[in-house]
Amino acid sequence: MTIPHEGRVIRGAVLSYRDDPVVAGPDHAVRFWCKGAVAVSGDGRIVWCGDASRLPERFRTLPSDDHGDALVLPGFIDAHVHFPQYRMLAAPGKDLLDWLNRFTFPEERRYASVPHARAAAEVFLDRLVQHGTTAAVVFSTVHRSATETLFAAAERRDMALVSGKTLMDRNAPEALRDDPESGARDSEALIERWHRHGRLRYAITVRFAVTSTEDQLREAGALAARHPDCYVHSHLSESEGEIELVRRLFPWAKDYTDVYDRFGLLGPRSLYAHGIHLSERECARLSETGATVVHCPTSNTFLGSGLFDAAHVGRADRPVRIGVATDVGGGTSYSMLHTLGEAYKVAMLGGRTPGAHELFHLATRGNAVNLGLDEEIGSLEPGRWADIVVLDPTATPVLEARHALSESIEDTLFALAILGDDRAVRATYVAGKRVWGTAPGAP
Ligand code: GUN
Ligand code: ZN
Repeated sequence: MTIPHEGRVIRGAVLSYRDDPVVAGPDHAVRFWCKGAVAVSGDGRIVWCGDASRLPERFRTLPSDDHGDALVLPGFIDAHVHFPQYRMLAAPGKDLLDWLNRFTFPEERRYASVPHARAAAEVFLDRLVQHGTTAAVVFSTVHRSATETLFAAAERRDMALVSGKTLMDRNAPEALRDDPESGARDSEALIERWHRHGRLRYAITVRFAVTSTEDQLREAGALAARHPDCYVHSHLSESEGEIELVRRLFPWAKDYTDVYDRFGLLGPRSLYAHGIHLSERECARLSETGATVVHCPTSNTFLGSGLFDAAHVGRADRPVRIGVATDVGGGTSYSMLHTLGEAYKVAMLGGRTPGAHELFHLATRGNAVNLGLDEEIGSLEPGRWADIVVLDPTATPVLEARHALSESIEDTLFALAILGDDRAVRATYVAGKRVWGTAPGAP
């Protein structure tokens, strides 16, 4: 469903990536106009983007949101976030498995209640747009009904969401378990109802190898084979305790990645959160299959899981595709700005110094490319959805003081990644409609 609105022009310091700045170089990849404009049609698509002085005559009479010196960027794409964990950030587990058992599973049980799930879906989607996130790959619970409510809420907002019912038939409380047949049947029904319904997409969602029997993994692989256009979404190689458990549960497997591989769950539409402890063999196989590993820095440090090694995972002779995400509620912030800042710090601890363009590209066009959705979202090129975030580089006293020293757009972005959060989000647009923030000029 597209929510109709009249077209509009969004003005500000417009920044977008048309290519990967690390690969193609910033001169080619970065598009920046310090007095720019984005023209949006009534159906929510970008029809023009460039220097405001060159805005074609036919768009000049459209209503205009002029954000002045604020940055106008493609909305952030969160490549891994948990809807039923929306209120359990900062739960102090000893490690991943302790955190799951003590805090996460009890909270997820509440989603058997449709009214609870319905209310939670609204709060969760509000949180995303308040933080400038306009598209996301979202874990739901094991409940088909909760997943329905999330899809329905996203549809009403015309948001691009990838989600799916969690498959989990062992090593979890009884109330959170399905079985191989019912899990496959519910997934089929949800695919039929929601996949490619407007801006929604389905992900076949094995929680992680620990909570699925071989029968269930086989069913998941069969689903993926029947629906090659759907995503596969799961967790991989996050904590030492988890890896040891996988070794015991699947003694025949070469390693953790091999478990998913044997059941046909690796491919270009597969997204695996974490990938902190991957061996050379695992990286080579992930690279070969085109799967994406999603880096979740605030979660990895909070749960003590380890430090993601982007140089190892992305090594040029067998690169694994890398995404970036909050992983709320293992992650400690909904803010993709904060997440980029933490990704920077994790990289620094590994001896790498990513530039701001690399980071912002990752959270916008980079994640869109990983999802195969870069013709739809992730940049401000004509034809894409007008999913836009407006960032104020002077939003707080600390940012304002730092901004006074900024000498380039890259430096401004860097300060936003290190010091910014939802306070820097002045407005968010989904399909051209302002869904968060104030109209420019409003008090
Ligand atoms: N592995 C399995 N389930 C989860 C989860 O909910 N969060 C994180 N961070 N890792 C997981
Ligand atoms: Zn997760």
